[in-house]
Amino acid sequence: MGKIEVKPPKLNWAGKDLEAIYSLLQKTTELGFLYKESIKAHIKENENRGTLWAAYIDGVLAGVATVGSRRIYPHLARHGEIAVVVKYRRQRIGTALYFIQVLQGILEGRRELEDTIIPQLSPWMCGGPTCSDGIGFLPSLEYTHYGTLPKRTGGFKDIQLWGKHTTEVQIFEDRIPKDCSFELDDTPKMRATYEKNMKNYEKREPRLVDEFSVLLQWVSDVATVNSKKEEKEKKPDDRKKGLIY
Ligand SMILES: CC(C)(COP(=O)(O)OP(=O)(O)OC[C@H]1O[C@@H](n2cnc3c(N)ncnc32)[C@H](O)[C@@H]1OP(=O)(O)O)[C@@H](O)C(=O)NCCC(=O)NCCS
Repeated sequence: MGKIEVKPPKLNWAGKDLEAIYSLLQKTTELGFLYKESIKAHIKENENRGTLWAAYIDGVLAGVATVGSRRIYPHLARHGEIAVVVKYRRQRIGTALYFIQVLQGILEGRRELEDTIIPQLSPWMCGGPTCSDGIGFLPSLEYTHYGTLPKRTGGFKDIQLWGKHTTEVQIFEDRIPKDCSFELDDTPKMRATYEKNMKNYEKREPRLVDEFSVLLQWVSDVATVNSKKEEKEKKPDDRKKGLIY
């Protein structure tokens, strides 16, 4: 396999890149219909914090992952829709897309990772009896099956809840593809979430503060993290003085 890059697409990228992302998600028949506008909104929100990530092999789009549901709980990171082009599957591109979401979760100090799946539609996620080849995607990353939700889908299909602690992510290091680079932004909004979480952990579970400081260092070892400054730091006066960088 060629060089793999995983990063959050931006609105200022060329139109054809965005079209390719829409089209990949629309063509993944295992997923429900996704509105173009909602995908665009995800990409727009990438300017504030990661909400959609793409994987490229030698510059060709191979997979996309979105963040799951609204982030109402600061301590929780939810995986959303994940799709890998059929011909690129089973080469750990999906694993790489989960991994970048985990890295983002660490930058925000989120201590829990969660995913919901519909096993009848995606048996390969949980490795059920109809998934004969492989152990299943989530078990391969040592996610735990927490249970089946009391509510079901509109078509009366079960929804399973899977999860993992963010501090137990070493498994990813053995499973991400070789020659894969990861790039993500660290924005003021993300740093504010991190601070909020650390204040909470300090009061309730102080060991997490130390664990997250080690994890933060680990993120900058395994990925390129672009640290973004506050917009308000760019004062007109600073521009005159040549202080903007
Ligand atoms: C789920 C999906 C994203 C996985 O992408 P992928 O790049 O093929 O996944 P990986 O190569 O990282 O798989 C990691 C491990 O998961 C397990 N796994 C993945 N696909 C599997 C399958 N079809 N059957 C059994 N196990 C599977 C394997 O253990 C695999 O490791 P291995 O190849 O070394 O045995 C891809 O199958 C897909 O796009 N499916 C359609 C959309 C979907 O169902 N999304 C999930 C719900 S939102």
